[in-house]
Amino acid sequence: MKSILITGGAGFIGSHVVKLFVRKYPDYRIINLDCLTYAGNLENLKEVEHASNYHFSKINILDEDSLRKVFNDFQITDVIHLAAESHVDRSITDPLAFVRTNVIGTVNLLNAAKSFWKNPEGHLFYHVSTDEVYGSLDDGGFFTETTPYDPQSPYSASKAASDHFVRAYANTYKLNMVISNCSNNYGPNQFPEKLIPLCIHNIKHNKPLPVYGKGENIRDWLYVEDHATAIDKVFHHGKSGETYNIGGFNEWKNIDIVHLLCQKMDEILGRESGTSEKLITFVKDRAGHDLRYAIDASKIQQELGWEPSLQFEEGIHKTILWYLENETWLEHVTSGDYQKYYEAHYGH
Ligand code: NAD
Ligand code: TYD
Repeated sequence: MKSILITGGAGFIGSHVVKLFVRKYPDYRIINLDCLTYAGNLENLKEVEHASNYHFSKINILDEDSLRKVFNDFQITDVIHLAAESHVDRSITDPLAFVRTNVIGTVNLLNAAKSFWKNPEGHLFYHVSTDEVYGSLDDGGFFTETTPYDPQSPYSASKAASDHFVRAYANTYKLNMVISNCSNNYGPNQFPEKLIPLCIHNIKHNKPLPVYGKGENIRDWLYVEDHATAIDKVFHHGKSGETYNIGGFNEWKNIDIVHLLCQKMDEILGRESGTSEKLITFVKDRAGHDLRYAIDASKIQQELGWEPSLQFEEGIHKTILWYLENETWLEHVTSGDYQKYYEAHYGH
């Protein structure tokens, strides 16, 4: 029987992965390990919290003893590691928090797996990473699995370091591992400090929409449930030692996304066309702001047969409706730390 430790399962992407695995694989035991930072919220998991194959453990991946105990208590067979500090702006303010969780936390988890799996055969350590490790595509092209690492922010540097440690453990201790590097995700449960939920929240409340620089930076967007199905494919069919890039061939300039959100929300909220556009406010650019990310996802499409299921406009529509219908969720997550952080940065 598989007993899978999913770290960061109370966060944005992790909660979709946990829900998918708990429902699709009733014979697997799913252990969600999360220390519930500002970004972790058990409300994200209420649909599965009573499932007999689901367990939650409130543990920090910096706590080596508790990690060892959870491997032993639940006889962990595999790991899907998503726990991380994930917001680039916060990494600029507090890089060490990213070193602790993303680098040291990952090495702690590798150590726990290595010592519990006396024989690594039949076990898998799956590390979920980001396309940001490849740096910024200022001269065109796409990120492939062989693009050299060139991280430019403290966040991406910490994720790159963790990817290197996972590969080093595979080489040195013969741990079976896979890594996937995904583009920007959007969808339900994303903390409203990231571009899309932040704009939805602010449009609803008639607050300014802070667009960094000229809004010309480009990101490649994927609906979060499509990322979860890709993780399912890689976990079950990925080859040990391999890397898979995940993305939807869906590049957008930030300013175009903000316009799209304004237009759609005016329609949905019954506001006169052009009302929300007036909230757009160009603000000081992010320090070291990467210009463009774009994923070449042909390897996962060809080798594992994965395809994204949703077109962007459909995904955005679903996302807006989810945030409008989940007012209590938003109130809970925006009542504490986020509000202080937001006010300190934008002063309103
Ligand atoms: P998130 O910030 O929404 O969630 C992170 C989760 O990890 C939270 O539940 C938090 O409580 C938990 N966590 C943080 N520090 C912890 C610690 N020390 N111990 C235990 N738990 C801890 O992040 P997300 O956007 O869901 O990203 C999940 C993973 O996917 C990350 O590894 C991230 O680098 C990667 N990723 C994210 C994106 C994206 O667009 N969001 C894209 C590609 C890859
Ligand atoms: P974000 O959602 O923070 O993801 P990432 O930095 O990991 O790509 O930001 C997406 C893009 O939107 C990025 O180019 C920065 C920009 N941005 C804004 O212009 N304004 C904002 O308030 C935020 C949060 C992001």
